[in-house]
Amino acid sequence: MAPADVVPQGEAPPAEVPGPLLTSGTSADVYALDDGRVLRRYREGRDAGPEVELLRHVRQHAYPAPEVLDAAGSDIVMTRLHGPTLLQALGAGEISIAGAAQVLTDLHARLHLVPSPRSWQVPSDHDWQTLSGGPVVVHLDLHPGNVILTEAGPGVLDWANARTGTAELDVALTAVLIAEVAVDAGGDYSQAARALLAAFLHSSQVSPLTALDDAAALRSTAPLLLPGERELVPAAAALVRTMVELTSNP
Ligand SMILES: Nc1ncnc2c1ncn2[C@@H]1O[C@H](COP(=O)(O)OP(=O)(O)O)[C@@H](O)[C@H]1O
Ligand SMILES: [Mg+2]
Repeated sequence: MAPADVVPQGEAPPAEVPGPLLTSGTSADVYALDDGRVLRRYREGRDAGPEVELLRHVRQHAYPAPEVLDAAGSDIVMTRLHGPTLLQALGAGEISIAGAAQVLTDLHARLHLVPSPRSWQVPSDHDWQTLSGGPVVVHLDLHPGNVILTEAGPGVLDWANARTGTAELDVALTAVLIAEVAVDAGGDYSQAARALLAAFLHSSQVSPLTALDDAAALRSTAPLLLPGERELVPAAAALVRTMVELTSNP
């Protein structure tokens, strides 16, 4: 499906602020349109078309992600998922660390059953141009803040980095993201992140080792990192490697 088929032509995005601002993230603002819909809008005018195509594709494969209701230019209108994020649920003690790790592992395993859409091309404004594709859809930002625990089960948000790739890379990237929090010694969540990382690596059937260098390189070159985040990446990757080796050589 070409982006032209999914982005209604001639439909201008709403010019005014369309509703209460839910969050203003690094690259996009999310507005609540009503109880059932949100608008995610890129501030820099990035074309949301390729992301929309992947979102529709994974939903066609019954993957738990918001349904795209409308899309035009940098705007995506999608169904609003209700519930705490997995991160909030962890913080509130509503889910155990082992339970959260299992949620992440299951979401990875299910996503990596979705074959790459044949027509999909990496958009020219995607952050990681040098990365080659792969056989399955990957999210590349699947951390607890991007998972919402709805009554119907967990759902995955924030498909900005999604593309085609390998399961190993997606698992490695999640591991590095969690490890960055773990190695931030002064951080409030360092201990919990370390335990979550161990549980995630234990429950995942896919080893991140072959893709760990690539994942660390992507994190090191990711634009829009907070001050200090980039410096954590080498130690984070080293922690993942040590933990995997400990798990596989008991
Ligand atoms: N479909 C949705 N349903 C409910 N909340 C959403 C939805 N999309 C985004 N949000 C809210 O907006 C926040 C930021 O959205 P996200 O897509 O993760 O963008 P980013 O992390 O780039 O700012 C989410 O953590 C969530 O709280
Ligand atoms: Mg997010």
